Amino acid sequence: MILELSNPSVCMKDPDRVQEVLQSMVKAGSNTLQVISDFDMTLTRFEFNGKRCPTCHNILDNSILISADCKQKLKGLLDTYYPIEIDSSRSVEEKLPLMVEWWTKAHELLVEQKIRKDRLSVAVRESDAMLREGYQLFFDHLHQHSIPLLIFSAGIGDILEEVIRQAGVFHPNVNVFSNYMDFDESGVLTAFKGELIHIYNKREGALLNTGHFQELRTRPNVLLMGDSLGDLNMADGVQDMENILKVGFLNDKVEERKQSYLDAYDIVLIKDETLEVPNALLHYLT
Ligand code: C5P
Ligand code: MG
Repeated sequence: MILELSNPSVCMKDPDRVQEVLQSMVKAGSNTLQVISDFDMTLTRFEFNGKRCPTCHNILDNSILISADCKQKLKGLLDTYYPIEIDSSRSVEEKLPLMVEWWTKAHELLVEQKIRKDRLSVAVRESDAMLREGYQLFFDHLHQHSIPLLIFSAGIGDILEEVIRQAGVFHPNVNVFSNYMDFDESGVLTAFKGELIHIYNKREGALLNTGHFQELRTRPNVLLMGDSLGDLNMADGVQDMENILKVGFLNDKVEERKQSYLDAYDIVLIKDETLEVPNALLHYLT
């Protein structure tokens, strides 16, 4: 039915269920559809030419806005906590406090750097951040069909907005839930606003934003895209959900994590740096 679902990167535990969900979503019509996507390593590439691509945090960590000493500390945090993030032998309960610790320590270090708001665009421009291949079609197609796209990220909102703005795809149908920076009157970073969003509290984040989902209550069909098992809760605020199709990018530790991804996501894309499959799904659904 959809040619791209035969791509070598595609794995599905229950292809018949995928077909059923797709058919009932087509029947309901594209005016009942909304897309909810994670940002880092879902809309952005995991690697390019054998080199890791940066997350929102890494864009800042590696930028000229951070001192050498602080860079080293942030790198230390990454080397300590990223292996924990992707460790399939530890439970979410065990990882959650450690993830909070990572985000908290990193944000404290960033705040010490007196980062200027007007320098963020330079940090993004000079970074190696890359949206996945096919991003233009993805964003433009959703915009053309007036389908709301919620980007739900435990990264940094100011940075991710700048990435999609510089790519020319920050269209009016895009909404962002993320960690936003708070600046003083002279434009210097002083804190992060509101409740911290980390990879394991996207459910709580969704439930804090009932207003957004209330506005979209005529769109009970959801295409969800993520790269972490924590992303599965991003649609928990959707009211009266009818169908949900979950697409998961499995970028790292593939063998160890494959079964848990197959159990949780309807479609798993293994080491696939493109948006070819999501684009094919959207083409079919609209
Ligand atoms: O957009 P998304 O929700 O994927 O953002 C979270 C990602 O940011 C995590 O997967 C984590 O690896 C990364 N991260 C980071 N540096 C931090 C905290 C999180 O690169 N200090
Ligand atoms: Mg991610």
